[in-house]
Amino acid sequence: MNAATSIVCADNLPHMQTLPPASCDLIYADPPFNQNKQMGPTQKGVASFNDRFQGGLEGYVSFLRPRLAQMHRLLSDRGSLFVHLNWRTVHYVKIELDRILGVDNFLNEIIWGYRSGSRPGRWFSRKHDTILVYAKKLGTHTFNVQRDGEYRTRDLKRSADGVPYKLTRKGPIFFHPDGPAMTDVWDVPILSTVSRERTGYPTQKPMALLRRIILACSNEGDMVADFFCGSGTTLVAAQELGRKWIGCDESPEAVAIASDRLASEQESRQMA
Ligand SMILES: C[S@@+](CC[C@H](N)C(=O)[O-])C[C@H]1O[C@@H](n2cnc3c(N)ncnc32)[C@H](O)[C@@H]1O
Repeated sequence: MNAATSIVCADNLPHMQTLPPASCDLIYADPPFNQNKQMGPTQKGVASFNDRFQGGLEGYVSFLRPRLAQMHRLLSDRGSLFVHLNWRTVHYVKIELDRILGVDNFLNEIIWGYRSGSRPGRWFSRKHDTILVYAKKLGTHTFNVQRDGEYRTRDLKRSADGVPYKLTRKGPIFFHPDGPAMTDVWDVPILSTVSRERTGYPTQKPMALLRRIILACSNEGDMVADFFCGSGTTLVAAQELGRKWIGCDESPEAVAIASDRLASEQESRQMA
């Protein structure tokens, strides 16, 4: 690790207050979801964290409000903030975010759909999270178009150099060779119980999700921050992609897991 990287075990509010304004180019926040329960441990001997807030939903929003305001202060003019929420909280937190960052800076409501087992019940199975995305300043924010998947257009042909095209009466229409631009609906598999990526930390997010966010909204050398870093997924993805990073979590077990993951990522890169 170098001076541009740090992971701190602390309550993120006083920690963020010590950092200089406009020092982060991308902030991903994956706070607890106010599920009124202890999360984990998912594996014997691994950490858990408390997802309970006094005062229910209002208490939860009051917890988040000053922290989101700090994240706004910390964003550079090319920065953006991703806040990962679920169906219980997203509508309440959206209103707070609109107040703090300005409704005009709202970029996306990303629906992260994951296919995991579901049982028939009295409502549709809840199989997505919502990630709200805001620019610090619309227009100066970083955005790199990401492409994925197959075109739905039928009868696509490929030119000699591999560019897809469709023949129409007016001539050929060429398509981007890397596939269609990604939309705001993401199909990224959740970590399976046997995934090699799994650390055992509850609510650990897949690297594929964080890579996508980091590639879209930052460039090499930019500063990526996660102040609810848990097992460190954002920090590991940032390091792998040549970004600087800072992380924080109040759980010493989370910080220990994240530090181990960062060290192994660095080691495996040095050996490659
Ligand atoms: C949903 S988990 C993050 C999971 C993470 N994205 C990952 O991939 O492992 C939320 C984290 O927020 C941490 N947390 C909750 N309140 C906090 C606070 N006030 N300051 C710092 N961390 C906090 C918890 O310890 C927990 O690790």
